[in-house]
Amino acid sequence: MRWNHRLAPSLGLILLTSTAKAAVDLSQYVNVFIGSQGPDGTGAGGGDIFVGGARPFGVAKVGIDSTAANWTTAILNGGWTPDGNVTGISMMHESGTGGAPKYGLIAQMPLTSVEAPVNILDNQTYSQPRVGDDEASVGYYKTRLESGVTIELSASRHAGIMEYSFPDGEKHVLVDVSHYLPGSPGDSGSQFFVGGEIGIEDDGKSYSGYGTYIGGWNNGAPFTVFFYGEFSETPDQARTFSGVNTDPMPKYQNLANGGISQPTYGNQTKKASSGPMNDRIGALMSWGSGSASSVISRVGISSISTARARSYIEKEISSWTLNDTVADAVKEWNKDVFNKIQVPLDDSANMTHVRLLYSSLYFMHLMPSDRSGENPLWDSGEPFWDDFYTIWDIFRCTVSFYHIFQPEYYESMIRALIDIWRHQGYMPDGRSGNWNGLVQGGSDADNVLADAYVKGLRGSINWTDGYAAMRKDAEVTPYNTFDPTDFTASTKEGRGALDDWKELGYVSEDRNTRSISRTVEYSLNDFALSQVAKGEMPGDVQKYLNRSAGWQNIWDESVESLNFTGFLAPKFSDGTFNSSDYDPRLCGGCEWSSYTYEAVPWEYSFVIPHDVETLIKFMGGSETFNSRLDMMFKPNMAIQDLGDNGAGITTLMNIGNEPDFATPYLYNYINKQYKSVAQSRSLANEYFKDAAYGIPGNSDAGAMNSWLLWQMLGIYPIVTQPVYLLSSPWFPDLNMTINGNKTLRISATGLEDGFYVQSVKINGEKWTKNWFEHEDIMVNGGRIEFELGQDAKMWDSGDVPPSPGHVELK
Ligand SMILES: *[C@@H]1O[C@H](CO)[C@@H](O)[C@H](O)[C@H]1NC(C)=O
Ligand SMILES: *[C@@H]1O[C@H](CO)[C@@H](O)[C@H](O)[C@H]1NC(C)=O
Ligand SMILES: *[C@@H]1O[C@H](CO)[C@@H](O)[C@H](O)[C@H]1NC(C)=O
Ligand SMILES: *[C@@H]1O[C@H](CO)[C@@H](O)[C@H](O)[C@H]1NC(C)=O
Ligand SMILES: *[C@@H]1O[C@H](CO)[C@@H](O)[C@H](O)[C@H]1NC(C)=O
Ligand SMILES: *[C@@H]1O[C@H](CO)[C@@H](O)[C@H](O)[C@H]1NC(C)=O
Ligand SMILES: *[C@@H]1O[C@H](CO)[C@@H](O)[C@H](O)[C@H]1NC(C)=O
Ligand SMILES: *[C@@H]1O[C@H](CO)[C@@H](O)[C@H](O)[C@H]1NC(C)=O
Ligand SMILES: *[C@@H]1O[C@H](CO)[C@@H](O)[C@H](O)[C@H]1NC(C)=O
Ligand SMILES: *[C@@H]1O[C@H](CO)[C@@H](O)[C@H](O)[C@H]1NC(C)=O
Ligand SMILES: *[C@@H]1O[C@H](CO)[C@@H](O)[C@H](O)[C@H]1NC(C)=O
Ligand SMILES: *[C@@H]1O[C@H](CO)[C@@H](O)[C@H](O)[C@H]1NC(C)=O
Repeated sequence: MRWNHRLAPSLGLILLTSTAKAAVDLSQYVNVFIGSQGPDGTGAGGGDIFVGGARPFGVAKVGIDSTAANWTTAILNGGWTPDGNVTGISMMHESGTGGAPKYGLIAQMPLTSVEAPVNILDNQTYSQPRVGDDEASVGYYKTRLESGVTIELSASRHAGIMEYSFPDGEKHVLVDVSHYLPGSPGDSGSQFFVGGEIGIEDDGKSYSGYGTYIGGWNNGAPFTVFFYGEFSETPDQARTFSGVNTDPMPKYQNLANGGISQPTYGNQTKKASSGPMNDRIGALMSWGSGSASSVISRVGISSISTARARSYIEKEISSWTLNDTVADAVKEWNKDVFNKIQVPLDDSANMTHVRLLYSSLYFMHLMPSDRSGENPLWDSGEPFWDDFYTIWDIFRCTVSFYHIFQPEYYESMIRALIDIWRHQGYMPDGRSGNWNGLVQGGSDADNVLADAYVKGLRGSINWTDGYAAMRKDAEVTPYNTFDPTDFTASTKEGRGALDDWKELGYVSEDRNTRSISRTVEYSLNDFALSQVAKGEMPGDVQKYLNRSAGWQNIWDESVESLNFTGFLAPKFSDGTFNSSDYDPRLCGGCEWSSYTYEAVPWEYSFVIPHDVETLIKFMGGSETFNSRLDMMFKPNMAIQDLGDNGAGITTLMNIGNEPDFATPYLYNYINKQYKSVAQSRSLANEYFKDAAYGIPGNSDAGAMNSWLLWQMLGIYPIVTQPVYLLSSPWFPDLNMTINGNKTLRISATGLEDGFYVQSVKINGEKWTKNWFEHEDIMVNGGRIEFELGQDAKMWDSGDVPPSPGHVELK
């Protein structure tokens, strides 16, 4: 696919700001296709990203949906695939997720015939291959269908605008309320359409209604999306239709094994309703035959009402000129996101780096979705956010970036997390379609809250409640949801293996799944509690600090692997280890029922950010820690097949998934910062590209992109601590607006010679530590000056980074 280097003509490359200073349109450097493909050019092993029109944290993500070229390898999660045929243009998408798809809702499809063999209830009969390369840039997407129709689109925060350029002949737009992104056949996480209603408005060119959907990866409850759509041209004929629902949805009425039905058309002003059999419904707008022309449509969506859906069109997309909305989108992205980071763009600039920078920012702002004012479940006046998909991915370094870069949005997100606990009992780990789920490891919203708290975020957050929400995670076992992927405990929220954790101080292998990775995550979760307890409930500090050492309980000193001894290991509830055939390089699939999730014990054995001091001791001291870290980066040492989560990586270190995000930086804890720089830089260079296959696996709601972003800044945050490690920046000069209106400036000399740090100054002061604290420069802004060079240098002679969760259990 081609990515548009140019912008909407109304915008041009140079914008004039109010101060008449020429400002560059930074959105032009975003490659919106990074992560759109895997290594073989299909979606398999790719980033599963959304491609289409969107705003920063917007509700509407407008883009095409497509068919699965091959269900074994197809990934429909973002709607767009490189090789699928177009089934519709829909209003809601996720970006970067794995598992069964969610959304792909409220769809239109331009058709040039509706006669047999086309059956508007059978997407196989009308789906369209694309011709040539798709084009897209921030807020703009264009594709050409084999039928001769060209689709262009853009989006506002809750609405979308689509322009269909039809060739000579019939012109129809199918509105299929029963359209959704399906899971692969037999996937228990598939979503389904379970009912709705649609009616044509009196003006004969507008329609409104709602659709209700269940399922998706997070096993979501039914949720309803209201819509209002309108066309620029009054159709000659506007009909609603309904048809028997034959999709194989569990627990809802339908016609089993009926084969796809034919539609029954209603009258002009008649509503079509799903009724008790959950019939499929929609509308067909037809403009008859004629010469080539365009039809434009604007569609608003809401969780509350059709009236509100309509109001979003009026408020957000008042023009019928598509490129006005594109220009608006570009303006919003620049103002809210891109303009807040300035780097040199002159001849000396490495434009690949510039594009990676702004593209990373783009992908980190597609999710979660700010649904404030759109809460259909309760009325509290608090902000409302959805599509935390998932916190397991974004807690490690994405939220720390929001903290400094999007303080208002971030405060709002945290208030929403707490309000979900208030009204639904638990904060989410994953959440989408107004429903908590799934929990892959710990209750990682605890880490998010602690990270914000220790860095001083207060604002309008009720921290009494925030801590109470965390305490619920730490004290109350959630009811079992009997998820087909894991029958043993809740996958919806909270900590499913909490009973073990409280009784034994670890998660046992015989009573629970994912025993090792959950022990690791619960440890950090409880450290998170201890940090917030310091301010909110001092009497709890020691208790949770003690519990945060639980990982030590499953450290088996006798396990040996690749000449290293001492690893996390599966332990039974009777206190003995299961040492039969235990190999910490294997995980037995790394899935829900394995003893580690999406990484092997070798990797998880490094994921103790709150007490690296004890970790180093357990591993045998600094020297062994150093060589053991080196082993993580040695090629061909991995023996577990991680499938798409492995991105073809042969080292134990897997940058294609989140658990290892901090691992390359751990050399800082033994004052060998140059090795952190070398390892992290080499991962970044090898796996992150300004290309369609530009990230190693799923972007995971932008988590991958945020890892790269920190790498480019030359710092890395240690989550739940007000601490950042220093690495090595990619730009000679970078100004970043932080904390609303402060400036963080990161500059570097000697980039052309090499990336090793020779010396560092922070706010003019010579710095010998390879880390700094939040208040050093992240509150009021400040300056980091790096001197870089060719030779690895042991410049870091100061104290090593802290281990505030240091507890001696043994
Ligand atoms: C909108 O802008 C794009 C990018 O400049 C351009 O290719 C396209 O033709 C424009 N579309 C319309 C409908 O004007
Ligand atoms: C096509 O439509 C059928 C019938 O509703 C549905 O089961 C299937 O999931 C759809 N396929 C795609 C790729 O949308
Ligand atoms: C797309 O449609 C073409 C032509 O109808 C067909 O040959 C091809 O198999 C379809 N591909 C997918 C992925 O559905
Ligand atoms: C689908 O993909 C799988 C895995 O790559 C492959 O084995 C299979 O042959 C493919 N099926 C078709 C019909 O191409
Ligand atoms: C459409 O309306 C006409 C006139 O009111 C009525 O005779 C006809 O039965 C209606 N058709 C359907 C499909 O409801
Ligand atoms: C960063 O800000 C400083 C101080 O305002 C300025 O001198 C410098 O040119 C800026 N750098 C960039 C890349 O904008
Ligand atoms: C720009 O950076 C890329 C990726 O790091 C590198 O491959 C390329 O050589 C650099 N280009 C120049 C002109 O330095
Ligand atoms: C926080 O919420 C609790 C009730 O949930 C309330 O009693 C308390 O007054 C609130 N604190 C603030 C500062 O609003
Ligand atoms: C924490 O652990 C220490 C050492 O095992 C123990 O003495 C202390 O009572 C524990 N404190 C709490 C609050 O559990
Ligand atoms: C482990 O040590 C033995 C003996 O020194 C050596 O032969 C072997 O290569 C080492 N294994 C690895 C993976 O380094
Ligand atoms: C002990 O570990 C082995 C190897 O991983 C595994 O096959 C076995 O099921 C485990 N035993 C129990 C009781 O969990
Ligand atoms: C800077 O931001 C703070 C916090 O948002 C605000 O109180 C202050 O008024 C802002 N100052 C300026 C000059 O915008």
